[in-house]
Amino acid sequence: MNYNKKTVKDIDVKGKKVLLRCDFNVPQDKDTLAITDDKRIRAALPTIQYLLDQGAAVIACSHLGKPKNGPEDKFSLAPVAARLSELLGRDVVMAKDVVGEDAKAKAAALQPGQILLLENTRFEKGETKNDPELAKQMAALAGEGGVYVSDAFGAVHRAHASTAGVAAYLPAVSGFLIQKELDFIGGALANPKRPLVAILGGSKVSSKIGVINNLLEIADTIIIGGGMAYTFSAAQGGKVGDSLLEEDWKDYANDMVKKAADKGVKLLLPIDTVIADKFAPDADSKVVKAGQIPEGWQGLDIGPDTVKLYCDAVDGAGTVIWNGPMGVFEFEKFAAGTKAVAEALSKTDAITIIGGGDSAAAVQQLGYADKMSHISTGGGASLEFMEGKELPGVACLLDA
Ligand code: 3PG
Repeated sequence: MNYNKKTVKDIDVKGKKVLLRCDFNVPQDKDTLAITDDKRIRAALPTIQYLLDQGAAVIACSHLGKPKNGPEDKFSLAPVAARLSELLGRDVVMAKDVVGEDAKAKAAALQPGQILLLENTRFEKGETKNDPELAKQMAALAGEGGVYVSDAFGAVHRAHASTAGVAAYLPAVSGFLIQKELDFIGGALANPKRPLVAILGGSKVSSKIGVINNLLEIADTIIIGGGMAYTFSAAQGGKVGDSLLEEDWKDYANDMVKKAADKGVKLLLPIDTVIADKFAPDADSKVVKAGQIPEGWQGLDIGPDTVKLYCDAVDGAGTVIWNGPMGVFEFEKFAAGTKAVAEALSKTDAITIIGGGDSAAAVQQLGYADKMSHISTGGGASLEFMEGKELPGVACLLDA
């Protein structure tokens, strides 16, 4: 995939209407709908501010959640409009619909330096179907001479009307957030500063197969932690007790071990593990050698020898990509492995790239966020990027 895309800096937006796709799919309190983490809104600010400063009129849009039956109050972007307005320190006009009469009238009246937020794009049935008619209507809001800017990195793996389809009707470029994600993740995949160390955790081998497979082509070292390590251990004849195990993926795990050996990639698996007598924060725990977990016990974190092995592997790396926690870090007793990896990454001189989702949350919770070179704002999107898949929301943008 070509990651070299035109950006907002490559076009003149002065006096133009810009349809700006953001990823404002923010977490909310399920009762009050208060936004519990505004990171994605903040991440869009540089592009929004730039466009407004350049004298563009910004028509922002996003999805929120997965509404399936048209408009629903609980999926409204109104809380996002309020937060965006606070962060920008200026009014954000909110439309009641996406391409309906209200959106059309407000978009038509929008002046340079003003910002309008459309309602949740998924209130339109055609959005997730990438309906060309909807894409055309969205593009029409920007009018003659309009421009499409995408900064919705978290949604670039979706071929939807607002993330990809609309680019057929307007000149399409990236915002600063997508550009940064492409530079860091794309750079690490295409031309990494070596050695490239990939740390892959999380619960399931099945959800990380694509990433492991692709990174085996690129990385110098691959480190496996989290629940998926037990499938690797079982595949190699280890006893995993009641640990998470994907029986059907054992052959695959063995194939990956073989592929690593064939390619000369160092594949590190846990050598010890912290086990628990139940899946609970107050479980009894002890450390055992990997592959020697008794029945009635389950592995919930990497052990101290493994922590040392993994941290040593990070030392001296040129680039580290981390995706997925090393254990059940939500339980304090089983957070040590994830904490140690986060700390090692915070100290290394290597370029450090944190995939979205749980590892991003861990780094943030532990207070290391500003020590990382890049924390991706995309969960599924960064995963698919690391799998080497084409991202429709990037592919549709103009090549630089
Ligand atoms: C995300 O939160 O990963 C993105 O906003 C994409 O959301 P989706 O999985 O509902 O398409």
